[in-house]
Amino acid sequence: MVKVGIAGLGRLGKVHAKNISVGIDGAQLVAACSIVPAELEFAKENLKVEQTFTDFDEMLKSDIDAVAIVTTSGLHCGQIAKALDAGKHVFCEKPLGVTVEECKMAEAAVERHPEKVFFLGFMRRFDPSYAYAMEKIKAGVIGKPYMVKATGIDPEALVQGAIKFAPTSGGIFIDMAIHDIDLMRWFLGEDPIEVYATGATFKHPEFKAANDDETGVAMYKCASGAIGFVHVGRTAPHGYHVETEIVGTEGTLRISPVPEKNLCMIYDTHGAVKECVGGFPERFAQAYQLELQEFINCIREGRKPNVTVYDGTKSTQIAFATTKAYQTGKPLAIEY
Ligand SMILES: NC(=O)c1ccc[n+]([C@@H]2O[C@H](COP(=O)([O-])OP(=O)(O)OC[C@H]3O[C@@H](n4cnc5c(N)ncnc54)[C@H](O)[C@@H]3O)[C@@H](O)[C@H]2O)c1
Repeated sequence: MVKVGIAGLGRLGKVHAKNISVGIDGAQLVAACSIVPAELEFAKENLKVEQTFTDFDEMLKSDIDAVAIVTTSGLHCGQIAKALDAGKHVFCEKPLGVTVEECKMAEAAVERHPEKVFFLGFMRRFDPSYAYAMEKIKAGVIGKPYMVKATGIDPEALVQGAIKFAPTSGGIFIDMAIHDIDLMRWFLGEDPIEVYATGATFKHPEFKAANDDETGVAMYKCASGAIGFVHVGRTAPHGYHVETEIVGTEGTLRISPVPEKNLCMIYDTHGAVKECVGGFPERFAQAYQLELQEFINCIREGRKPNVTVYDGTKSTQIAFATTKAYQTGKPLAIEY
């Protein structure tokens, strides 16, 4: 059994903690760390976690093999380095870090400990539909993929939270586009070298007041000529809309053009209605479980995951370049 300690038990930390405690073969959740006392009570009462900590460094001294980092993004890189240096395997939520310098520090820590597993939580790669799309690409079903259109729009129902967070979010591309950027790189098998970005606000002027926008659009060009198109937003009226289209020389794959909740169609006075997923925990429930299972399998089998620390740095570099292009309104070469 791999003994895991989790740091962070907020919105996503609770999802991961529940998965580790009951849903992952070969893993046992034995420790939890949070600065919120009620969250530690939750871990003790609901998940039967034996040891709880308010200090990350103290948790590292306990008898654990691995750490799952689900804390505030600005803490990730420092905690990654400390955990690896303490001899633990590390799973860390995205984003890798909030600056490129921090990401480089995390890279150095991973390189110092080649015997340890480091896993970055780009869970969409583990979603069964995205993984299936990748299998189809590898099998040559759509020929050479040359364009990825990635859409990620949060539900209007959650917009007040986004408005509150806007002044400190780093902007819509840093805040929202990192998963879509990762998918673009993954499916194209290539990094973009140029970006143009713009935004629009028609519904919630509060975003403009925070020097941001409620909708952001970025277009990318790769050295081979392949194209990426990322559309992020915060005002989907129908639910949580994550859709990805991959266009190839011989065909196209579309993942979730209707972000349907399940296979139930409702026929009533509104017509024939498919309800949609309401948020990321619902849409990616399976992906969160499958990525953690892969983390534990890698540890037990002495393997390295396909998603690396360098994927974290690259996506962060691209998100920062996108923000700069958005702010200047001009096409920008992306430096790595
Ligand atoms: N992969 C995804 O789809 C996805 C979705 C949501 C969030 N996230 C990422 O997960 C991370 C957490 O997001 P969230 O929405 O759960 O945040 P949250 O604010 O709900 O929770 C943050 C947690 O961090 C803990 N924390 C803060 N400072 C700490 C410290 N010094 N030591 C130990 N614990 C500390 C808090 O106690 C809290 O439990 C973020 O990096 C976010 O970007 C990823």
